[in-house]
Amino acid sequence: MRDARDNPFSPGADIVPEVWAGRTEQLSDWRDVVRPRLIAGLPERGRTILGEPGLGKSSLVRRIAQRAAEAGDWVTPQLRIPSGSDPLKLVASAILQLAEQAELPAARERRIKDALGRVQTVAVSGISLTVRAQDGPEPYSALTALLVEVGRAAIERGNVALIHLDEVQNIADEHALSQLLIALGDAVTHEEPVELPGGASVRRSLPIAVYLTGLPDFEDRAGAHKGATFARRFKTTVLTAIDDDDIAAALQEFVLPGWEVPDGAGGIGRIRMEEAAAAAIVELCRGEPFLFQLAGERAWYASGEATITRAQVMSGWRGAQREAAAHVERILTRLPPRERAFLEAMAGLPARERRLSRIAAEAGYAKATDAGPTSQRLDTVRGIIDRGKLYSFRHRAVEAYLTSDWPNLA
Ligand SMILES: Nc1ncnc2c1ncn2[C@@H]1O[C@H](COP(=O)(O)OP(=O)(O)OP(=O)(O)O)[C@@H](O)[C@H]1O
Ligand SMILES: [Mg+2]
Repeated sequence: MRDARDNPFSPGADIVPEVWAGRTEQLSDWRDVVRPRLIAGLPERGRTILGEPGLGKSSLVRRIAQRAAEAGDWVTPQLRIPSGSDPLKLVASAILQLAEQAELPAARERRIKDALGRVQTVAVSGISLTVRAQDGPEPYSALTALLVEVGRAAIERGNVALIHLDEVQNIADEHALSQLLIALGDAVTHEEPVELPGGASVRRSLPIAVYLTGLPDFEDRAGAHKGATFARRFKTTVLTAIDDDDIAAALQEFVLPGWEVPDGAGGIGRIRMEEAAAAAIVELCRGEPFLFQLAGERAWYASGEATITRAQVMSGWRGAQREAAAHVERILTRLPPRERAFLEAMAGLPARERRLSRIAAEAGYAKATDAGPTSQRLDTVRGIIDRGKLYSFRHRAVEAYLTSDWPNLA
């Protein structure tokens, strides 16, 4: 009954997993803040969701986009920016897709036809347009103009248009980045006059939601170079590990009443999980969504029986240890050497001695204050540590990897 086709765990990237855990704050931000405010015509900043690899940034916004589409909103597919590509082309074609959902190509207005035409040109030529810009406006203004038309159509329809740009850290070209942030930001802050019954006019914001997702490095670039404008137009969240309670809650459906699978005879069977098995998965994955899916998948495959046991979780994990270690190594090797050295120095100290002065000395700094910028980045930009009087790890898989035999079982 437990076979590959029914396995609900999915450690692959960019999937909205069937076994979903936590992230309630971010989901409710969309459902209870962003969407209702946009529909009411109130201004709302775009959202930037950053985090270390595998923390579930793409999945989160795909889930939000799914919910939006179910509610009748217009959504772009997840637009993954390949490294070295021209992001303006990609975003231009995405906006054209939104325009299509909004049925703008059927519109008669000259203004809309022009806006469509200009964005079609951007979709073909991208950033190179700015090089020979003498003969026309910059590409970003074309994107903004069409987004504004999409927004107007959304006001008519009473829904929201949602744009999701993923892997934004891959936008290497400064000029392209700035054009994009301005194009999206201008649409998000655009104010549209609307006529009230009786002839008076008020201004409202457009119902356009922008989600940017990617690695934390993006914040440095967008933040530093675009400064206050970016911060005013986009609200940044750094994702960290999922709470153990949320992971346990996600597994509860296996514990009770059991996860439904086809029983092979046209009916429904249930795959159950021992409480101890669920607890072992929680313990092994350290709040990492990727490792959660990995541990679940391996436990599922460890046997064909109707109940997932603790022993199966353990034997499954043994087969996943290398992949789990590689996951954390990927995070560590991406770090600049200073940040990595800081973490290693921190990990080398007993938890109660992790004060900045001690860690800085261990990491070879002459003065504790010299380590300040590095520790600050590890906290606020990356979400890997917490700075208090005592420093601690927020990224529990990194902590486990650096301070114990994890992911290896004894
Ligand atoms: N809330 C969640 N609950 C359970 N599993 C999740 C959750 N979010 C993500 N996952 C799983 O974690 C894995 C990584 O997710 P995702 O690809 O979205 O991460 P990411 O942060 O975008 O990573 P990268 O930086 O590599 O792009 C996927 O297998 C996904 O199914
Ligand atoms: Mg991703």
